[in-house]
Amino acid sequence: MTDTTTTDQDEASCLRTEMVDLLTGDGYLTDGAVKRAMLAVPRHRFAPEADLAAAHAPYDAVITKHDEHGVAISSVSAPQVQAMMLEQASLAPGDRVLEIGSGGYNAALIAELVGEHGSVTTVDIDSDVTDRAEELLKHTGYDDRVRVVCADAADGTPEHGPYDAIIVTVGAWDVPPGWVDNLAEGGRLVVPLRMRNVTQSLALVREGDRLVSRDERICGFVPMQGSDGHTETQILLRGDTSAVLRFDDEAPADPHALDGVLLTDRVEVWTGVALAPRELIVGLRLYLASTLPGFGTLTVDPDQDFGPLAPSNPGFSMAAVNTAGGGREFAYLLTRRTEQGDFEYGVHAFGPDAAAFADTVAEQVRTWDREHRGGPGPRIELLPASTPVSDLPGQAHIAKRHRILTFSWPKATDADGQVPSNTNEGE
Ligand SMILES: C[S@@+](CC[C@H](N)C(=O)[O-])C[C@H]1O[C@@H](n2cnc3c(N)ncnc32)[C@H](O)[C@@H]1O
Repeated sequence: MTDTTTTDQDEASCLRTEMVDLLTGDGYLTDGAVKRAMLAVPRHRFAPEADLAAAHAPYDAVITKHDEHGVAISSVSAPQVQAMMLEQASLAPGDRVLEIGSGGYNAALIAELVGEHGSVTTVDIDSDVTDRAEELLKHTGYDDRVRVVCADAADGTPEHGPYDAIIVTVGAWDVPPGWVDNLAEGGRLVVPLRMRNVTQSLALVREGDRLVSRDERICGFVPMQGSDGHTETQILLRGDTSAVLRFDDEAPADPHALDGVLLTDRVEVWTGVALAPRELIVGLRLYLASTLPGFGTLTVDPDQDFGPLAPSNPGFSMAAVNTAGGGREFAYLLTRRTEQGDFEYGVHAFGPDAAAFADTVAEQVRTWDREHRGGPGPRIELLPASTPVSDLPGQAHIAKRHRILTFSWPKATDADGQVPSNTNEGE
């Protein structure tokens, strides 16, 4: 567990500096205190499973545990993700912080940021993980600065709250009441929240009983286990895994409504909306996810016959089921290359009223392009699930078990009040 040679220590120190320089150069690390913490904490000693280079790879997690199916369930997260979330949490000396999901390394970074007058508690559902974290924190001298607890974080850790910040380092579908109750007024909750198959790390601030997002960044995480764990709903379009629709929230009530849907004629509509090759689609994806109730993804097995399906990316296509029409139509998005080298979005739809549903989806893409593209993105607020619909802000809502997510999409108007022309800038 300790560095074996001075050469190892020197090499690790150089790799840490390189890692920080790379993240800084790529624009992912801007905060001086987070940089200093990442230079101070010996990351490789929290990832003894990896060689020195792998331990310092800026964009890679070090997987530390798999489940019985070989799926990763615990890791030391990628430095880029940790830097991003620590910056989102705006930690200050003296802060009391709860980390959900333990590995040891990130808790040590937090300890550096909050200093000797702050406090750090890290909680994990898995005793293998907490045992490992405790041992590594001890070997690196952080054990007296980090309290390690083994528990299902969905139930909260009330004895140590309230916290100035809670940083969730596992993919969550919802925000359980314990997290809000344990957060001080004005405290920050940074959480990778899954919203109809889109995961974004939200930096939420507590304002009474609501949480208001100040920042959103795309990311991916191993899914949460325990009482607030959640499994996705799958609809097998051909009865096997060759073509699968996947949903997180508000899955179609009757999956059998789509039985035989691929036997109907395919309708194709092109939107006239094109994105540049390097332009991020996250804004469009979040807009469709928040405004189309039956939004999910389509995956198609590239080794099997696609039949009438023609996705541009078999591994991932944005898709939706027409929940308003009884769930008998579905559509997915695809792209084609324009003469300018951009990617125009189109829609393929199936089902008895495929033409109307294809138009609905295409029109949502055009609305995003006309009114929101290049804009500041939505204001996201999380309210208690009991909030009456009439009191909900925003044009779009996603209802979870504990919270309702509300999205207010401002128009992307420029300073003169004009909607900017459809350049490929923004995001
Ligand atoms: C990505 S790892 C945490 C990484 C860590 N923060 C680090 O230092 O890089 C996610 C962890 O969340 C834990 N986890 C999953 N569900 C949980 C739950 N309900 N409560 C607490 N921990 C949970 C897993 O056991 C796993 O160890």
